Amino acid sequence: MATINVALIGQGFMGRSHSNAWGQVAKFFKPPITPVMHTVFGQPEEKPQAFAANWGWKNASTDWEQLVRSPEIGLVDIVTPNYMHAPVARAAIAAGKPVACEKPIAGSLSDAREMAAAAKAAKLKTFVWFNYRRCPAVALAYQMVKDGKLGAIRHVRATYLQDWADESVPLLWRFDKTLAGSGAHGDLNAHIVDMTRFVTGQEITEIAGAIAETFIKERTLPAGVAAGGIAAGRQGGGGKGPVTVDDAVLFLARFSGGAVASFEAARQATGNFNRNTFELNGTKGSLKFDFERMNELQWYDATLPRAVQGWSTIMCTHGGDHPYVANWWPDAHIIGYEHGFTNQAYDILRVLAGESPTVPIPDFEDAYQTQRVLEAALLSAEERRPVKLEEVR
Ligand SMILES: NC(=O)c1ccc[n+]([C@@H]2O[C@H](COP(=O)([O-])OP(=O)(O)OC[C@H]3O[C@@H](n4cnc5c(N)ncnc54)[C@H](O)[C@@H]3O)[C@@H](O)[C@H]2O)c1
Repeated sequence: MATINVALIGQGFMGRSHSNAWGQVAKFFKPPITPVMHTVFGQPEEKPQAFAANWGWKNASTDWEQLVRSPEIGLVDIVTPNYMHAPVARAAIAAGKPVACEKPIAGSLSDAREMAAAAKAAKLKTFVWFNYRRCPAVALAYQMVKDGKLGAIRHVRATYLQDWADESVPLLWRFDKTLAGSGAHGDLNAHIVDMTRFVTGQEITEIAGAIAETFIKERTLPAGVAAGGIAAGRQGGGGKGPVTVDDAVLFLARFSGGAVASFEAARQATGNFNRNTFELNGTKGSLKFDFERMNELQWYDATLPRAVQGWSTIMCTHGGDHPYVANWWPDAHIIGYEHGFTNQAYDILRVLAGESPTVPIPDFEDAYQTQRVLEAALLSAEERRPVKLEEVR
């Protein structure tokens, strides 16, 4: 049985979700390659040894550069703040390693472009953790669109709304442009741009207009590694620092197949915790997805006699009929957030073995296309004008 030694770079929120996925995947699936949880990197203050012991990593390291070069490592998995994605990916690619990287692919378009080019030149396999593609309901939506069930898509409506970022939240890396690239935009719009590109199978060709706003302009400086990467010299001390990213970005767009679209990301949309949604309206039917009810997909079949048309709720947990579900629990024994990551770990292992993933998995080139859309929307907001995607490379 083939195995691959994984190095995990980072141990925050995504460090935990990826550790869970690598630990679960060979228990629930039969991947063609078995992952070995070889080494986790963490900053010294994070006590990576304790993290390793808790999550089942064999070793802990405080030196990521040495770790990604180690001949023992076969796959580098990056779960650091966005500005760190490019240097770690660059080092891993230079060492000839395939890379799995968290989203957004990078903090800047130039980093994203460079990462995609380096992976292509080195002919290495890469993966970006746009995990929502691997919810069974989203994968089913993809298949229904591909099978022509919606006809021609006229409208795409997507929102990703959260409400965790009030004044009490300190100046984490997520509020610093040099560390994050952007705010709600790169964090949340990145997911819905990827998800709608995936489900529709179409590219965004133009941003018709955009608006970006930062409501809370400065925040308290946090202490130590709680900052998750706040630049040295800017930690603690009880002072305040400027927020240099957006709290909300809304934009209008056009898809290559003719659909018009709206996107909305926000961190202070009170009452919305993780409201990651899309709605597609086609000539033959419509679909609605809301991550807060992630096991369900809403379907409107406009080919039925008008008298019996109506929204139906598909419980996307029939093992025989829905992607990934046969490997989890019996019908309607529902699954959650973490399962999307395990499903993705399975597909990464399939692709590394030369097999096809269950549904398409984004690589660096694909995630670079999402980053171009994000960049175009920021440009549109800044210059208050429409931006064609050709302008942004
Ligand atoms: N796929 C998703 O749904 C999802 C959800 C949340 C976050 N993310 C992405 O995952 C990445 C990490 O986010 P998170 O929420 O886990 O952040 P986090 O702040 O919880 O953890 C970040 C980790 O990186 C480490 N780190 C910070 N600065 C570093 C540096 N200079 N060098 C080395 N390590 C450093 C931190 O110590 C910590 O272990 C981001 O790119 C984020 O956009 C994706």
